Amino acid sequence: MEKIIIFDTTLRDGEQAPGGSLTAQEKLEVAFQLEKLGVDVIEAGFPVASPGDFKAVLEISKAIKKGVICALARCLKSDIEAAYEAVKKARHPRIHIFLATSKIHLQYKFKKAEDEILDIAVNATKMAKKLCSDIEFSPEDATRSEHDFLYRVIEAVINEGAKTINIPDTTGYTYPQEMYSLIKDIKNNVPNINEVVIAVHCHDDLGMAVANSLSGVLAGARQVHCTINGIGERAGNASLEEVVMAIKTRKDVFGSLYTSINTKEIYRTSRMINNLTDFVVPPNKAIVGRNAFAHEAGIHQDAVLKKHSTYEIMDPHDVGISSSRLVLGKHSGRHAFRERLKTLGFHLNDERLNKAFTRFKELADKKKDIYDDDLRAIVEDEIRVIKPLWQLNSFEVTSGTKIKPRAIVYLNKKSKSFNVVSSGDGPVDAVFKAIDKITGYKAKLNDFRLEAVTSGKDALGQVSLKLKIGDSVISGRGSSTDIIEAAVKAYLDAVNKLEAK
Ligand code: KIV
Ligand code: ZN
Repeated sequence: MEKIIIFDTTLRDGEQAPGGSLTAQEKLEVAFQLEKLGVDVIEAGFPVASPGDFKAVLEISKAIKKGVICALARCLKSDIEAAYEAVKKARHPRIHIFLATSKIHLQYKFKKAEDEILDIAVNATKMAKKLCSDIEFSPEDATRSEHDFLYRVIEAVINEGAKTINIPDTTGYTYPQEMYSLIKDIKNNVPNINEVVIAVHCHDDLGMAVANSLSGVLAGARQVHCTINGIGERAGNASLEEVVMAIKTRKDVFGSLYTSINTKEIYRTSRMINNLTDFVVPPNKAIVGRNAFAHEAGIHQDAVLKKHSTYEIMDPHDVGISSSRLVLGKHSGRHAFRERLKTLGFHLNDERLNKAFTRFKELADKKKDIYDDDLRAIVEDEIRVIKPLWQLNSFEVTSGTKIKPRAIVYLNKKSKSFNVVSSGDGPVDAVFKAIDKITGYKAKLNDFRLEAVTSGKDALGQVSLKLKIGDSVISGRGSSTDIIEAAVKAYLDAVNKLEAK
């Protein structure tokens, strides 16, 4: 059996993409979940990029017990020192340095000759190695680099002590056969390559990130860079759940290769990233999309009931998806509530449990049957790590075909209460305008989505929206059986995130 090391870069390449932005506290929560999921390496951030990123990497390094904590650095002294300072408290720290090796980057980005780039790579590896024993080196844009120059750089940084060589397809340009040949060529042409682990880091610009990563594995790569739900720059990175489940499901192809991922944690991790970032999982997304295991066609349904492998190549339970069962009702007590949350993987402290239980009771008064998906929605609302500055007290709206919609909103900020009346183009517009009047923000609504969490007329509605306030674009989410209330909660969630920043 040979292990494929799973290097998760959700908190670095995923987070640096527009819409990925997380607070340091949220990153820590994600890191705990990645630890549960069993990833081998967490790339926690790019410490020199901002004080917030530095702090997040530092906190993660102190808190996470299992696996390697890695920080990214360019081949610059300031970057390497910041990366080391941020990871040095980790049990297993790693510095990941990168430098582009393709002609186009040398000519236009650096305006430097190959030998100068080679010197920079060697000196940076030497410098990083003095601080940290575990160094990973990435020749950025490797898939568009001249092979001979790529081999020279890789050989030189291995001589300086790099332990992992990562081959990035930075622009998502390659295709599976080409990636396979590149890894084979590197193995055949770099004399000291057997001293290191080869990694692959694929972007999805042509929709081939997972296929390219798996081709790299078949050619001999033993570490895969990936992100939860495939989030990341532009079209994203290779998705962790797809890479892991392909290796697990196609044993006939991958033979004795395996990963240490606890696949039953996949769905929960996916939901967490879906909830904390702006990247919403499309319903048809492989492994974790809402429809990934749904069979609409009668012929399929019938066959699956007879034998699930007729149309299902994986068991949904293996990725942590349990069917949305009717679980609780208005007479269910705190104990049953806590137990069901535990089964769903939420371990809340008493304060959060109390808040979630109050929400559950309020929901049970309005909605007869409570399903797992309802519980997930309300708990995900309650476990948001942002301490809300503005809180909804109550609101009233009047609206109809022949009257101008009008809203009165009551908010609390610390111990003070505020209320304002406003009209708008519709009831949602009216409540949003009222909130703007109270908070003083001039927010522009960039995106607004409403989804039913479960089926039925009394289903919970979940609103996801994006506000542009000044130069910042902030996302917000909220759920309620009343869709106006869900919209108000989502709006306040975004405003509170901005306040927290
Ligand atoms: O895509 C890329 O090349 C990267 C490097 C920093 C590895 O993210
Ligand atoms: Zn990348």
